[in-house]
Amino acid sequence: MTAQTRSPQPLIVPTPDLVVAQSRPVPADFVLGVATAAYQIEGARHEDGRTDSIWDTFSHTPGAVVDGDTGDVACEHYHRYAADVALMKSLGMQSYRFSTSWDRVCPDGGPVNAKGLDFYERLVDSLLEAGVAPWLTLYHWDLPQALEDRGGWTSRETVDRFVDYSLAVHDRLGDRVRTWTTLNEPFCAAFLGYTGGMHAPGRTSPEDGLAAAHHLMLAHGRVVQELRARDASLELGLTLNFTVADPLDPSDPRDVDAARRVDAQMNRIFLDPIFRGAYPADLLDDVRHLGLEDHIMDGDLEVTSTPIDVLGVNYYNGEAIGHEPPAAALSDSVNGGRLTRSPFPAADNSHRHPRGLPVTAMDWEIQPEGLTRLLVRLHEEYAGPAGVTLHVTENGAAFDDVPDEDGFVDDRGRTAYVRSHLGAILDAVDAGVPVRGYFYWSLLDNFEWAWGYAKRFGIVRVDYDTQVRTPKASALDLARIIATRRLPA
Ligand code: NOJ
Repeated sequence: MTAQTRSPQPLIVPTPDLVVAQSRPVPADFVLGVATAAYQIEGARHEDGRTDSIWDTFSHTPGAVVDGDTGDVACEHYHRYAADVALMKSLGMQSYRFSTSWDRVCPDGGPVNAKGLDFYERLVDSLLEAGVAPWLTLYHWDLPQALEDRGGWTSRETVDRFVDYSLAVHDRLGDRVRTWTTLNEPFCAAFLGYTGGMHAPGRTSPEDGLAAAHHLMLAHGRVVQELRARDASLELGLTLNFTVADPLDPSDPRDVDAARRVDAQMNRIFLDPIFRGAYPADLLDDVRHLGLEDHIMDGDLEVTSTPIDVLGVNYYNGEAIGHEPPAAALSDSVNGGRLTRSPFPAADNSHRHPRGLPVTAMDWEIQPEGLTRLLVRLHEEYAGPAGVTLHVTENGAAFDDVPDEDGFVDDRGRTAYVRSHLGAILDAVDAGVPVRGYFYWSLLDNFEWAWGYAKRFGIVRVDYDTQVRTPKASALDLARIIATRRLPA
């Protein structure tokens, strides 16, 4: 495998003095890196004992994923990890956020598979040797199918199995990995998977989504307790995805209420049990008929609010929320409307409205200042009082990349996206928010869930026919920011 490098066309040709004068320093202790997830890049579906996850089943279900794509091969990272680590080193990445696959480590959710752990040990050792700090996520949506067959996240038993699996990973890697996050985006795992049906396991039940959300919170808290008891020096936390839900018309109380509902069902439903040991009262009112409280047992909320050290923040875009649907409703032509269903268990009167901002290939509005507001809010209302620091664990953009004959992509849109969001983070840092790092999503173009390979987020292009990796202009720009510790204006 070769990783080609070459310089991008410069956006402008500034003199070195001008660059420094117009650029902004990146704090010395601010960590810059890239993120991926197991199912999206590894491939090697049944190798070395790995069994199927809900994503294997789902992606092999006709009509579930655009173009019938699956993660069977993906970026072949399972076999190419050494070259991928070398590539990160060549770009100067300081940290790499990746996830371990439950199905490799505990096939069918059962006893430990040493070969699965061997892979992650090889990966972590290569990272350490390359000077790239590993940041490990235990759950990035690949629940063993065998556990889904017994109820999946709607069953409390899954919580126990998640603890077993997490401890097995810690047994092997606890001496080498400092930062452990339990879950990635429980909102998507619960509500895209169990309520909206656009993600695995493809269920469409509001009740199931809420049950899954609570059990995911419990699983998070249990693992934090267990890992903390084993080693008080670990840095522990989880990653949440947030929507900055602005009312479409702030003077219309119906839009204000619609935005409040989205904030409750997307953001506070996780923040409050983690930081306040309670679900928000307005959320409980909104979903009273859907049985969330039936799943909350004595002591659960003490578990979910076990203290953490770090909150991972995933931010891509903002949303304007109105009480009525937009005049031009979003297209429901993609996969029979599967991709445009509402995942919210009780927000029928909350609708996303385009505001005329520039969008990415996902149709997501680009709104960097929303990230500044989000970080300030999270710090003031939740993380700050708990002494928890923030990391932006995902931020990135899909664009319709056009490679030249050498496979090089001069992706100025993505470059501008990264710069503007890093600037928004530095604004939050200047406002006193302890944001300690940034991971671009993603190192590689990869399997974008229900969109398959149709959407490319990577700063490195992957040619899926040859598996050749080619850094895009955005990769070289980020590498330059890391090397110079300066963010160009
Ligand atoms: C969220 C997820 O964590 C990641 O898996 C996904 O590919 C990106 N955002 C982009 O949608």
